[in-house]
Amino acid sequence: MRMAADEHKQLFCRQFIASHCRFDPATLAWPDLDDAALERLRGIPFWQEVLYTERRAGAIVAAYARTVADPLVREAVCLQGFEEARHAELLRVMIHRYSIAVDEVPLEPINSDPRRAFADFGYGECLDSFLGFGVFGIARRSGFLPEPLFEIFDMLLGEEARHIVFFVNLMAWQLKARGYGARWLRGANAAWYYGRAAARLLGTVRRGRSANDGKNFSATQADVFLDGFTFRDFVNECWAEHSRRMAAFDPDLPLPRLLPTVARVALAGWRLCSSIRAVLDKPRMKRARCLPR
Ligand SMILES: [Fe+2]
Ligand SMILES: [Fe+2]
Repeated sequence: MRMAADEHKQLFCRQFIASHCRFDPATLAWPDLDDAALERLRGIPFWQEVLYTERRAGAIVAAYARTVADPLVREAVCLQGFEEARHAELLRVMIHRYSIAVDEVPLEPINSDPRRAFADFGYGECLDSFLGFGVFGIARRSGFLPEPLFEIFDMLLGEEARHIVFFVNLMAWQLKARGYGARWLRGANAAWYYGRAAARLLGTVRRGRSANDGKNFSATQADVFLDGFTFRDFVNECWAEHSRRMAAFDPDLPLPRLLPTVARVALAGWRLCSSIRAVLDKPRMKRARCLPR
């Protein structure tokens, strides 16, 4: 990134503000669902966690916005806070409309350092979005739920894509302003926060498992779209869907890079292993064919 700090700030803030979409969750085109689709939607075990995460996101971003001195950056962060709160509202509308059993539990106190809380939240959002894009792509292709519902979720994920691009640019801009703009410093900072985000995600998965009484996602009919998918297919889907969404952004802006790079390296490793295995298996199969019957 060769842009001057102010030029960069103008670009990522103004693009974020200009791409904001006005809508009211209550007036979206919510479809009527038949019994099978309703059962599948209600069977998804993580609605409570998702609603909690969005409510908490709104609170963290709003708290951070109050500490930002730069008027343009503050306007953009406030807008992100508004969108996070609207995500929670969108989920409430869906939960109410389709009678999904979800309790709205009180939010835990947020870290007393709003910037630290915002950075933890932002890197966590980069990780959740990367995985969420993959799950969404697989579920949509399988027709797990009616397409009009996917169109609504697609809009929500489009906003999450904008949030993570805004976030990595904000972090890069702030680090540069503090004299830590070198690429390796930014990478080390991101790796540290991603480590914390991964640990939190594992904790959430463990809590989710015990809360669901040992029932896993496949027991809630998600095997309709996960059936036949390997971990490698899943990583490939996350990478492909992430790349597709990131392609929509200005190429001058830095984009979230660590997770797609790790995924790309892992996929290349898998491909190499498959090729080596195929070469090693060839003579063995030849010998097997030559054996007398
Ligand atoms: Fe959100
Ligand atoms: Fe977000």
